[in-house]
Amino acid sequence: MPINKIGVLTSGGDAPGMNAAIRAVVRTALYHNLKVAGIQRGYQGAIENKIIDMDSHSVSNIIQRGGTILKTFRSKDFMTQEGRTIAYNNFAKHGIDALIVIGGNGTYTGADVFNTEFNMPIVGLPGTIDNDLYGTDYTIGYDTAINTACEAIDKIRDTADSHDRVFFVEVMGRDSGFIALDTGICGGAEAILVPEMPNEILGLANTLKLGWGRKKGSQLIIVAEGDEEGGVYEVVSKIKDKIPDLESRCVILGHIQRGGSPTARDRVLASRLGNAAVMTLLNGKSNVAIGLVNDHIKLVSFKDAISIRKDINKSLIELADVLSS
Ligand code: F6P
Repeated sequence: MPINKIGVLTSGGDAPGMNAAIRAVVRTALYHNLKVAGIQRGYQGAIENKIIDMDSHSVSNIIQRGGTILKTFRSKDFMTQEGRTIAYNNFAKHGIDALIVIGGNGTYTGADVFNTEFNMPIVGLPGTIDNDLYGTDYTIGYDTAINTACEAIDKIRDTADSHDRVFFVEVMGRDSGFIALDTGICGGAEAILVPEMPNEILGLANTLKLGWGRKKGSQLIIVAEGDEEGGVYEVVSKIKDKIPDLESRCVILGHIQRGGSPTARDRVLASRLGNAAVMTLLNGKSNVAIGLVNDHIKLVSFKDAISIRKDINKSLIELADVLSS
């Protein structure tokens, strides 16, 4: 069946560059004489019938804006069949016959179930700061998040250095260590703790002692929020078992990492993927997530994108060690 009207939504945690992706979807669809509707507040807005028609002006002057003009939500109602049926009926009322969903793992899971139940063509775009989605080298928002984290760490370094202090900085990433790794390298961290590497406490205690042995004044440790040892406070309390007189400070960067104007890299990525999502639907493919791998557009099934774990580059941990020695 030919597609006449595409619905676009953002779901899950917002990510810088989502607006650039929405713009690319809307403008590409209009260019190919398709209609577009924006669904506000993610899947929840589909259930609540918060659906608006969009034209070229709807996406003017948003490429540089953080957050998402369509708003977002983690919808529990969409996890029920009743909720999804209401959403489907609302899509039908608005004449929407295909969807482009921008978000992370939860967004893709919802899309996969919805496609199975209602056979509606859906294409997914990777929008999350966590970079934890299989099928793309980078997710939309990741580059901005690590740049924001890096800027914050530069500031922490100034005060750490002035007081000769040890700082533990917790970064986001859910259960993956991508943000921690790149932030640690660009911030010149002494150590990086990620969920993908277990049993790091003893090694960390040794790293700190070695640093003091080398007459280091300040030391900076990056901890991924999902680290199996816990967040920064748990890590410090475990380290204190090994170094009882440790004097340190903890910082949790938190949602600062999700905001702000998207970097050039995120804007370009979002623009390319948004365009490719519409073209994929027009080419009759669906139930896939779009990614960029080695600078080429790649499609993977939602099932693969959800279930295959994307590996971190563990050699970066060693690199941080070598470069901070
Ligand atoms: O997935 C993006 C993310 O920012 C994760 O890094 C973090 O664990 C989570 O969302 C926080 O979610 P919320 O904004 O709902 O607290």
